[in-house]
Amino acid sequence: MVPFPALEQPLNPFPRYEAMRDSEPVFQDQETGVWHAFRYDDVQRVLSEHATFSSRFGGDGPSGQLFAASLVNTDPPRHRQLRSLVSQAFTPRSVEALAPRISELTNELLDPVIAAGSTDLIDQLAYPLPVIVIAELMGIPAADRDRFKQWSDVIVSQTRPGADDSDHAAAHREMAEYFMAMIEQRRRQPGNDLISALLGAEIDGQKLSVMELLGFCSLLLVAGNETTTNLIGNAVLCFTEAPGTAERLVAEPDLLPHAIEEVLRYRSPVQSMYRISTVETTLRGRSLPAGSPIVAWIGSANRDGEQFPHPEVFDVERSPNRHLAFGQGIHFCLGAPLARLEAKIALQAVLSRLPGLAVEPGATLERMESTIVYGVKRLPVTWQAA
Ligand code: HEM
Repeated sequence: MVPFPALEQPLNPFPRYEAMRDSEPVFQDQETGVWHAFRYDDVQRVLSEHATFSSRFGGDGPSGQLFAASLVNTDPPRHRQLRSLVSQAFTPRSVEALAPRISELTNELLDPVIAAGSTDLIDQLAYPLPVIVIAELMGIPAADRDRFKQWSDVIVSQTRPGADDSDHAAAHREMAEYFMAMIEQRRRQPGNDLISALLGAEIDGQKLSVMELLGFCSLLLVAGNETTTNLIGNAVLCFTEAPGTAERLVAEPDLLPHAIEEVLRYRSPVQSMYRISTVETTLRGRSLPAGSPIVAWIGSANRDGEQFPHPEVFDVERSPNRHLAFGQGIHFCLGAPLARLEAKIALQAVLSRLPGLAVEPGATLERMESTIVYGVKRLPVTWQAA
């Protein structure tokens, strides 16, 4: 048995996943009692069989309280009702309408650094872009984005060993107070934004509760930000690693959406998701009692050789590419069309405006402090400035 220290967060967790897929694909950590699934088929089952593997696990921790009432932590029938309220805002068609604004923001963020020939691409583009987009959708001041980053960094680092719980409690409290004030303001003065739309929405004649509204806002801010930031950052890592990739994507722009799907598979921004079993069940011959917490390792499923030939090769033309980076089933990522669009626009601009793009030689890349979200803290890059 290969022990799996669940709280470690190496930049290269993939050899360990491989060892687990081979030796103990469904594994119970004896210390914590938590189960872990590493193979594609099992991860797919855990994510999509919602009657057996429930998403209602989150009531205990501080993030649990905040997200408990949000759709990511509910099961049907409530899940379907909540999801139908917001899904209109995130259809590919409504999202496509945001394209001109996303391009404009991307160029505004890149303009000041173009002449410099080097920058931290996370700080300059990959972080601010998705935050500004979601803040504008929600109708909250994008100028507060430094505070959002502070809160969401603390929240996604929840599983960090030695994490300070008082930090988490404070971040959750501050974020809740912030959104309460925004919700109250929209109640008095509705606008053409998501918070106002949610305030007006009814399910079977009933308005959403304040906790549900708060859960939605927090979920959108946290789910929609670090993930898209990391998709953009991870794409730059992938594109600069294999010589010629960036040049090829400039020459063949139609390839970019495929390349982005391959980034989602190869360096999945969300590496793992939790569920809790509702009944006794069997997974790859192992018997899990009802009430077993289980981690579905998306990052490992996406490197499973039974599903993906030569999984360790980053192949911009991979087809089929049925990665699980956005989950599967009823909880399939609501923001997937938006994340794909933002990544496409941002990466197109980066590739065309920063010729000769490379990770700064000698830079030490450090993984963000989270076992769930995968990406680097800083991404120093260089290019040939005109
Ligand atoms: C590359 C970027 C992203 C990745 C990799 C990602 C990944 C995921 C995954 C794996 C899930 C499934 C959770 C589960 O099964 O428990 C999910 C759900 C969700 N995502 Fe994303 N996400 C991304 C971007 C976004 C964006 C931009 C938004 C919103 C603006 C968003 C909003 C949501 C919401 C609301 C859910 C819950 C859906 C439900 O429970 O029905 N995500 N995401």
